Amino acid sequence: MTNQTRLKIATQKSGRLTDNSLDLLKKSGIKLTRSKDQLFCKARNFPLDVFFVRDDDIPAFVATDVCQIGVVGANTLKEKQLLDNDDGLNQLETLLELGFGECRLSFAVPAADEWTGPQFLDGKRIATSYKGMVQDYLDQHNLKAKIVTMEGAVEVAPRTGMADVICDLVSTGATLASNGMKEVESIFESQSVLIQNPNITDDEAEILDRLMMRIRGVKRAESSKYIMLHAPKDALEDIKAALPGSESPTVLNLQGIDDKVAIHAVCDEAVFWETMEELQARGASSILVLPIEKMSD
Ligand code: PRP
Ligand code: ZN
Repeated sequence: MTNQTRLKIATQKSGRLTDNSLDLLKKSGIKLTRSKDQLFCKARNFPLDVFFVRDDDIPAFVATDVCQIGVVGANTLKEKQLLDNDDGLNQLETLLELGFGECRLSFAVPAADEWTGPQFLDGKRIATSYKGMVQDYLDQHNLKAKIVTMEGAVEVAPRTGMADVICDLVSTGATLASNGMKEVESIFESQSVLIQNPNITDDEAEILDRLMMRIRGVKRAESSKYIMLHAPKDALEDIKAALPGSESPTVLNLQGIDDKVAIHAVCDEAVFWETMEELQARGASSILVLPIEKMSD
């Protein structure tokens, strides 16, 4: 009998992480057919079912084993853990930082106000959607303040007189700027993470291993480049040393040219224009930098 086990993953239904989450699955070779409003979707070519839920609900979906894994903002996970202080939520494991959805949770005040440090918050009214993290910060600094919980549009609170300070997610800072506010203190750095319920079955773990191998490969390929160039033989070592994050480049002979070789290398770091200039300065020519589509260990 064939194994019928399928792994379930919770992802954001619509919002900041949705496109990147789906893109990651797609790049991992997982084919989904998703129609509008569909809450649940089976992969056609991999034992994975994708649940589309509100991001706030993702930690609970994974903690209760409705899904075994999930893609969620580290901020959302942390907030739920602080608010509910539930064993299942606290036991969730972070498998991997996914490198998208980067933002920070910060205090912000009207631009004209003078921030005097955490003490500034004492006795103030703070509008936020992150009651748990704000209360935690206040406790740690021995401060008392009134928390005004808002689900969204937190940045308008000071203008409407609902609060003196806000604590909200900041990414580009455009929202704060357009509301006449300035960021004064950051309390949590966030990005999307892949989380796991620690109590999965062996069959589920096996599928997860396969998926993780693919996701890691995608992440590595994204941050890596394949570089090819021609190098004068006597500058070989010098040029190898200037290749960013590459361990053992391949060196090949060039037919009919005796004083030059070709170097092929995978660079685990970004290749900037500055890197190209540096390589050229060391005698490299015909430099080609190519994206890598897939990569395995
Ligand atoms: C978040 C946050 C800010 C904005 C910050 O809101 O609450 O409003 O993004 O981003 P920026 O620094 O790039 O301007 P989001 O768009 O997630 O919607 P919400 O407030 O309705 O949750
Ligand atoms: Zn917002």
